Order: sequence, then structure tokens, then C-alpha cells
Amino acid sequence: MIEILRSTHQFLIFRQNLPECAVGFVPTMGNLHSGHLSLVKESLENNDWTILSIFVNPKQFGPNEDFERYPRTLGRDVSLVRDLFREGGFEEKGKKIAFFCPEKVSEVYPPDYNTTISVGNELTGRLCGKSRPGHFDGVTTVVFQLFSLVKPNKAYFGQKDYQQYLVIKRMISDLNLNIQIIPMPIKRDKDGLALSSRNQFLTGDQKTEALVLPKILEKIKKTIKENNWLTAQPIIKEIISDYKRSHSWDYLEVLDSTDLKEPHEESHTVVIAGALKVGETRLIDNKLVELNYVR
Ligand code: PAJ
Repeated sequence: MIEILRSTHQFLIFRQNLPECAVGFVPTMGNLHSGHLSLVKESLENNDWTILSIFVNPKQFGPNEDFERYPRTLGRDVSLVRDLFREGGFEEKGKKIAFFCPEKVSEVYPPDYNTTISVGNELTGRLCGKSRPGHFDGVTTVVFQLFSLVKPNKAYFGQKDYQQYLVIKRMISDLNLNIQIIPMPIKRDKDGLALSSRNQFLTGDQKTEALVLPKILEKIKKTIKENNWLTAQPIIKEIISDYKRSHSWDYLEVLDSTDLKEPHEESHTVVIAGALKVGETRLIDNKLVELNYVR
């Protein structure tokens, strides 16, 4: 049986009554696809209870972004998870799952709500944080609030939102929260496009245009693998400036994967991160690659 809790009050009572057990948490904004479901499956396999939250968080959308048109598909989401639960035999394994889907924004942010959790600019001022000011404050504020309600042992985050994953890890560490963050690999469609709730906004032609994003990330990754880091850099610069001329990029950068700074002497792995605008839709993707110093 899947429990569905629609208010904070209901959820608090539910949580108080849970026995001591391993709780895995998957925060989402809904409109679930196989990427989200891979997180849910991992949590089900490794915990007694899995809590999945669905909340389209207004605080992480800018004034001209797509908060209003963000797809809300609760009925479909519940049935996808129900199928996963049934097909994975989780009932027989004694696993339990609950949804926390606040019915109104005021369940999470009552009218007198007045707190922001903010991770510093070093991590949040780059990449998505640069093109979406205030976005990560919105993310950390809601995730902290959800962590306080859910009190999970483990929380699952996709590496599709790589910067978000790093920002949450920073918050956990700085605030001494006793939660283990589990990063999960990016799920892609058959053409290589990272799954996203926003892909459905793309027309056929736009989908073709969007494929430039995983393709260039792969091209840069191949360049890094086939050269040593010193010789790869000028080639990468050229690839990036070529692609920037012909497409509408928010950013396309190669950065140290731990601190998002320019790769430096101690860098072991880099993240190749891109944000591309296709029509009204903004898509993000990334690839991780180990640096090769000697060849
Ligand atoms: P949302 O975009 O719904 O994503 C929920 C989780 O699913 C995130 O951890 C995200 O990285 C992961 N995810 C999305 N697409 C994925 C893919 N193709 N492969 C693997 N994982 C994927 O991220 C958010 O919501 C919000 O910012 C949230 C953390 C819920 C706070 O509001």
C-alpha cells in the first residue's frame, strides 16, 4: 500500500508514528520519468521505508521562469511508482513507501514563513547559479525544510543536476546534518538526451537541436581522454568557442568536479557542464571525466 500525505500536519503525524527503521528520501518536483524512478528504486532496495516528495517549489524559480507551466501530473506519478513497486516485488520484500505531496504552497511556506538557507557564492555563484540568481537558495531552503520533516538516513540526488548535488552536500556538511547523500547516474533516452521533465516542451526539430548538448559533452570528454590535460586544453577551448557561435548557450564549461573552480593542480576529475537554450526551454547536462596528466 502506498501512503499519500497531502499536508505537513498529516506528514508529521505519519513520521512520528514510524518505528525506528532505515528511511530513504527522494525529493522531486514530480512529472516523474525513468531518471526519478531510478532514484526511487535505489532507495527501495536499500531502506525499509522510502519517502518520495513531490513539490514544485516556487522559491527556486526566477520571475520569468517556467513555474506556472511546470508539468503537474500527480495521478500519473503515483501510478508509475505503484508499477515500479509491484514489478520490483518490493511488497513481498517488506518494503514501504509514502508520498509527501503538499497540496498547497502554504503547506511548505505558511504566510509568515521567513527563513532562507543559503550556501555561499563560491559554489552557488557559478554555472546555473550565475544564470539563475537565487535558484540555489530556493533549492537549499526547501530541501532543508524537507529534511527536517522527513528525517531520512539517506537522500538520493541525480548527478544530472550536478551543481545541486554539490550544493546539498556542502549544506549537509556545514550544518552537520546526519544524512548520507547518495549520488545517482544520469539516465538518458536512446539518443543520449538526459531525461528531464522539460524535454516534453521540445518539438521534433528542437529535440534534434537539443542533441547538440550531449554530443559536445561527449566530444570534450573524448578529447580529454585521448590527450593529456595540458594538450587537451587548447583543443577544448576551440571546440567550445565553435559551438558557442552556433547555439544559444547559458554556459559550457570544464571545471574541477569537487569545487567547480577552474581545473587546478590538485584536480583529479573534471565536470564538463552545459546549459543550452532551445526555444523557450533550458536544458542542462554534464559528464565527469578523470584527468590524464601523463601520456
Ligand atoms: P527534479 O528536477 O524533479 O529532480 C528530482 C531528482 O531527480 C533530482 O535529484 C535530479 O537530479 C534527479 N533527476 C532528474 N533527471 C534525472 C536523470 N535524467 N537521471 C538521473 N536523475 C535525474 O531537482 C529537483 O527536482 C529539485 O531541485 C528538488 C531537489 C526536488 C528541490 O525542489
